[in-house]
Amino acid sequence: MQLRGWEERDLPMLAEIEARCFPCDAWSQEMLSEVLKAPYQWSVLAEEDGKIYGYACLFSLFETAELLNIAVDTDYRGRGIGESLLTAVHEQAKAMGAERILLEVRVSNAPAIALYKKHGYEKIAVRKNYYGNGEDADIMENKL
Ligand SMILES: CC(C)(COP(=O)(O)OP(=O)(O)OC[C@H]1O[C@@H](n2cnc3c(N)ncnc32)[C@H](O)[C@@H]1OP(=O)(O)O)[C@@H](O)C(=O)NCCC(=O)NCCS
Repeated sequence: MQLRGWEERDLPMLAEIEARCFPCDAWSQEMLSEVLKAPYQWSVLAEEDGKIYGYACLFSLFETAELLNIAVDTDYRGRGIGESLLTAVHEQAKAMGAERILLEVRVSNAPAIALYKKHGYEKIAVRKNYYGNGEDADIMENKL
C-alpha cells in the first residue's frame, strides 16, 4: 500500500468512501474538491492497485494545524491504515511549521478517540451540540 496526495481523478471514489464512513454528514464530491484546491491544506490517501482504502486531510497555517478529516473504508479497518495516515499527517504538519494539531470528534466515536489517544492527543474542550443531531464534539490536541 502506498500513500500519495489526492488528485482530481480520486474525488468520485473518495466521495463514495466518505458516504459509507459518515452516513449523517458526509462531505460531497464538491466539498472534497474544495479541499483539494484550498490554500494551506494537504491531503493524503492510502492506495493499492488503483483502489483507495482511506484518506486524510489537514489545514496548517502558522503554529496550529487542524486535522480536517480521516477515514478508512469500512471493510479495511483494524489493519493499521488509520495509523499510517495519521502519522503522515503529523509529519506533514511539522514540515509546514505547526507546533500543535487540533481536531474535533464525536463524543460517541470510540474507535477514533482511541486512535487519537494512542497517538498523543488529549481532550482539551467540548463543543456542545456541535453536530446536526445535537451530539457534542470533543476537541483534542496533539503537541507535535
Ligand atoms: C477511526 C478510523 C479512521 C480508524 O482507522 P483504522 O484503520 O481502523 O485504525 P487502525 O487499524 O490504524 O487502528 C489504530 C488504533 O486505533 C484504535 N482503534 C481503531 N479501531 C478501533 C476500534 N474499533 N475500537 C477501539 N479502538 C480502535 C486502536 O487504538 C488501534 O490501535 P491497536 O490496533 O494497537 O489497538 C476508522 O475507524 C474510521 O474510518 N472510522 C470512520 C470515520 C471516522 O470516524 N473518522 C474520524 C472522524 S473524527
